[in-house]
Amino acid sequence: MSAVAIDKRAVAASFSRASSTYDQVAELQRQVGSNLLARLPESLQPRALVDLGCGTGFFTRALNARFGRAVLGLDIAEGMLRYARAQGPEQAAWITADAEALPLRDSSQDLLFSSLALQWCPDLGRALNEARRVLRPGGCMAFNTLVEGTLGELRGAWEQVDGYIHVNRFMPLAQLQAVLAGAGFARWHCEVEAHVLHYPQLSALTHELKALGAHNLNAGRPGGLTGRARLKALTAAYEGYRQDAGLPATYQVAQIILYK
Ligand SMILES: C[S@@+](CC[C@H](N)C(=O)[O-])C[C@H]1O[C@@H](n2cnc3c(N)ncnc32)[C@H](O)[C@@H]1O
Repeated sequence: MSAVAIDKRAVAASFSRASSTYDQVAELQRQVGSNLLARLPESLQPRALVDLGCGTGFFTRALNARFGRAVLGLDIAEGMLRYARAQGPEQAAWITADAEALPLRDSSQDLLFSSLALQWCPDLGRALNEARRVLRPGGCMAFNTLVEGTLGELRGAWEQVDGYIHVNRFMPLAQLQAVLAGAGFARWHCEVEAHVLHYPQLSALTHELKALGAHNLNAGRPGGLTGRARLKALTAAYEGYRQDAGLPATYQVAQIILYK
């Protein structure tokens, strides 16, 4: 997210609140994280590995199962880590930290994995600098993030209602590629997958975003409750996007592998 002002405490609090509901609605998150896992080179045999922004630990467990190694699950939201710790695996350590300031030694890690977390960092370049610092030469970082076009229908519908930013801002692909090119890695690869989900009605989408902890946290959103009239106008505007399968919500997911 290229948000000018993301309040990290608000991000941590929102995800902590969502820890007990996240897994029930995280189908897309499962899919795109699994696609990222599948992109890891077969020959990879990391000894020290981290799941950055591990959330409930689903991929921390998957990494542990794939590599048979202890995994460090790191997240900014303590509530998420409490939940993750309770699920195991035993071969994991959990740490509350910010991806933009990793409490890890230089050149200490072989693999950094991160699914749908780094779009919450106000400064992706800084997070990548940190990643490069803690990776061993030859080490690999695999992450995915959301780019412009994500939730474009919701943004478009709100634009028809008022002028506020109601939807998180996501970086244009060209900007992401420029950040990747400037991050000092030896080589990298980026590919975008589009996923379109369908909902019977708008409330199903907005409830899901809330259960994920991923509703709008950008500065500039209007405070208070959505008024009934505005909600009615939003619902009508979103209906303009309806397809046979229901109301569409598009996610543009960039899948990225970098080598130090
Ligand atoms: C959408 S969830 C994804 C969780 C998990 N990776 C998955 O795929 O199920 C995003 C996670 O990133 C975490 N996060 C957001 N900003 C972060 C930051 N600056 N440093 C570390 N974690 C962060 C959130 O607390 C949340 O748990």
